[in-house]
Amino acid sequence: HDGSDLHGLRVVISAGGTREPLDPVRFLGNRSSGRQGVALAAKAAARGAQVHLVAANVDSSVLAAVPGNVQITSVETTAELQDAMLEASAASHVVVMAAAVADFRPARTRTEKTKKHADGSVESLELVQNPDILAGLVAGRREGQIIVGFAAETGDADGSVLDHGRAKARRKGADLLAVNAVGADVGFGDVPNEVHLLDASGSDLGAGGGSKDDVAHVVWDAVVRLLNSRSG
Ligand code: C5P
Repeated sequence: HDGSDLHGLRVVISAGGTREPLDPVRFLGNRSSGRQGVALAAKAAARGAQVHLVAANVDSSVLAAVPGNVQITSVETTAELQDAMLEASAASHVVVMAAAVADFRPARTRTEKTKKHADGSVESLELVQNPDILAGLVAGRREGQIIVGFAAETGDADGSVLDHGRAKARRKGADLLAVNAVGADVGFGDVPNEVHLLDASGSDLGAGGGSKDDVAHVVWDAVVRLLNSRSG
């Protein structure tokens, strides 16, 4: 890859997974490691972009792979991630939402650790829906800005992963949606990853991948093609 084909571009990338506190010691979260977002940040920097990484609960061992010239903002909750992305996107040519965002959060966060009841009774947990950060970014998209989403879909070899992805691409309206299959051995953690890139109408722009670094290059290649098609 050309070491400078993203030169002059400011990009912001979210990585990791948001956590929603139940009380001072417990949270609702997910298994996203942040590796795909970190790979996207590292490869964008290697290709000349000015990179801002918004990291939601990414382990320091994973963040160690981030080059020193990448700006890092650490967040915990979906609300914090939303604030950071809205602010950073205002100054960015490309916005990538690679973070796994909690769809729901507890309706109330306790200020004290939740205790068991002596009589053995349990309380139910009331949840409220979180905002869709990607949808908000698409709604506020600046002229010429490219917004990329990720969609982890489950399904089998009958094409249902792509069917779900196409429907989501149309619904979300991002310029690019990177759809990958998650299952027992693909998707999360330090494992191979493969993506199909769909445009906002759900058309398949091609597949690629292997390692998370390979997936990162596939995404940046598609961004470069999109920018070139718009300028030419
Ligand atoms: O609908 P789904 O969660 O599969 O969409 C995934 C994409 O939407 C990812 O890019 C993710 O970062 C983003 N997302 C978001 N806010 C949410 C849920 C998902 O920005 N509340």
